[in-house]
Amino acid sequence: MEKITIAIDGYSSTGKSTIAKQLAKALNYIYVDTGAMYRGVTLYAMRNGFISETSNDLEGLIAALDNIDLRFVYNETLGFAELFLNDENVEREIRTMEVSRLVSQVATVEEVREKLVAIQQRMGLEKGIVMDGRDIGTVVFPDAELKIFMTASPEKRATRRYKELLDKGEEVKYSEVLKNVEHRDYIDSHREISPLKKADDAIEFDNSDMGLEDQFSRVLDFANRVINKQ
Ligand code: DC
Repeated sequence: MEKITIAIDGYSSTGKSTIAKQLAKALNYIYVDTGAMYRGVTLYAMRNGFISETSNDLEGLIAALDNIDLRFVYNETLGFAELFLNDENVEREIRTMEVSRLVSQVATVEEVREKLVAIQQRMGLEKGIVMDGRDIGTVVFPDAELKIFMTASPEKRATRRYKELLDKGEEVKYSEVLKNVEHRDYIDSHREISPLKKADDAIEFDNSDMGLEDQFSRVLDFANRVINKQ
């Protein structure tokens, strides 16, 4: 059976990555979390003094982009790939609130997007890939055979994210998480380059009131229908 390319885009904390991961596993496809890559560049920028809560030197970051090596390494035990930044596993560090607060700024930098989009397109050359992000169906793989655009209310998404952070032992307030979700929605959908928007041929999927199993079976059904038509 022919392999296809699956693009899953949507707002932050819509549960895109959970569904994308499960879908890739069920189809035996590669899963790529492109948000992790923007977070990886942000972590590099923080560590090297190019960005902080109070200042940024985006020109400096652009000049240093060639020093950033990002790679995904599959972890058998976890069942998914983890992000390595210059040979260091940064899967934990890229998920903190500090990175979440700064990543949207880094994601507005054209040179950063060009670098990451080129890597993403290389990863998808052989198809058989599920990629999630903001611009996968519009910019990275405009010809993807299946595009899904996930949405859910900001409150639902903030609640999910808040629980995730608490589970990881981060001390956060719900109001802070909601503010971050709304702020990122605004920046992600208003930036000049590759703003978050639904591709014309994407299926809009609102999962505000849907459990994980239900979401997964619906998305798997979409995928199987497209695959069976190939
Ligand atoms: O999916 P996430 O929350 O981990 O993404 C982190 C940030 O990266 C988010 O604020 C938007 C940005 N991003 C992007 O601009 N383009 C992508 N393809 C993926 C993420």
